[in-house]
Amino acid sequence: MTEPIIKPIEAIIAETRKQIHPYVFKRLEARTPRKAGSKIARTITVTSGKGGVGKTSMVANLAICLAQAGQRVIILDADLGLANIDVIFGIRPKHNLMDVINGNMTLDEIMIQGPNGIQIIAGGSGVSELAQLETEQAHKLFDQLKFLEDKTDYLLIDTGAGISDSVISFCQAADQIIVITTTEPTSLADAYGIIKIISNKRPDSHVSVLVNRVDSPEEGNEIHARLSRVASEFLDFEIHPLGSIPQDRQMHLAIRQQTPLMLFSPMSPAAAGIRKIVSSTFHEIPEDNPNEGIEGFLGRLTKFFKGGSSQ
Ligand SMILES: Nc1ncnc2c1ncn2[C@@H]1O[C@H](COP(=O)(O)OP(=O)(O)OP(=O)(O)O)[C@@H](O)[C@H]1O
Ligand SMILES: [Mg+2]
Repeated sequence: MTEPIIKPIEAIIAETRKQIHPYVFKRLEARTPRKAGSKIARTITVTSGKGGVGKTSMVANLAICLAQAGQRVIILDADLGLANIDVIFGIRPKHNLMDVINGNMTLDEIMIQGPNGIQIIAGGSGVSELAQLETEQAHKLFDQLKFLEDKTDYLLIDTGAGISDSVISFCQAADQIIVITTTEPTSLADAYGIIKIISNKRPDSHVSVLVNRVDSPEEGNEIHARLSRVASEFLDFEIHPLGSIPQDRQMHLAIRQQTPLMLFSPMSPAAAGIRKIVSSTFHEIPEDNPNEGIEGFLGRLTKFFKGGSSQ
């Protein structure tokens, strides 16, 4: 008997499936279509000049706070040298970004489920600079990052300390940059240093400053006023004050327990400070800028790779 001319749809799907490379199929299956009218993801890079000022703690707690407010959040640990967001969450990732860059794993396969539905992409040590990635590795990473747009409302990027090319690239690529400083003169000088570089490289960047470990709100206000004044006077650049977080022993205890502060001690002064920042300031950025979202982020990030365009 001859084969029927009109094949049943199941047969067509099965045949197509065989022809498509399994890697591509996995990606297509992983994609959740965007709901009509749903907003694009906002990318936020958290950085500082000086190390140890509270970047990772802030990323973890901002993530929880946003998730508790009903937002979908993905954390990308872009501290490629000394990745440690997993330590704050008390999780041990089996795989990390390097498995996506080097191997055939998808971001979905390496993403770890954190509390409140937060997804975490663990950074990998091995490559300290994005620019070191080979073209093929860069394309693998970009191919995967594109799919995050439909899965999240916020992509929070934790960077390492210092002013490496990678850190600057993630800053330039994001919709918003949060620079964290403490009240110490060295930390302030380094915060100014990174703001100067960002303002030179991308004058239209949206930079917010968060003062951590303050003794009083007044101290935070004074630092904001000082930094804003020098940025405006010497760099002709506007920075947005994001508020301040008090010095709080609970933060230290939370880290020792490997539980983010928002869950360990939600009524503590620092947790209250973080909640205030999220509720009062996170509506600031326009949601409908066509250049924003993961696509805009990747478009800008692409420039820093040897490989050039991700297309
Ligand atoms: N508001 C705060 N009150 C008290 N301690 C704090 C506060 N914020 C952060 N810390 C402490 O500062 C230390 C460094 O925090 P964290 O690891 O988040 O900094 P980091 O900027 O990510 O460091 P690195 O540059 O090494 O990545 C932690 O031990 C944490 O407990
Ligand atoms: Mg850190």
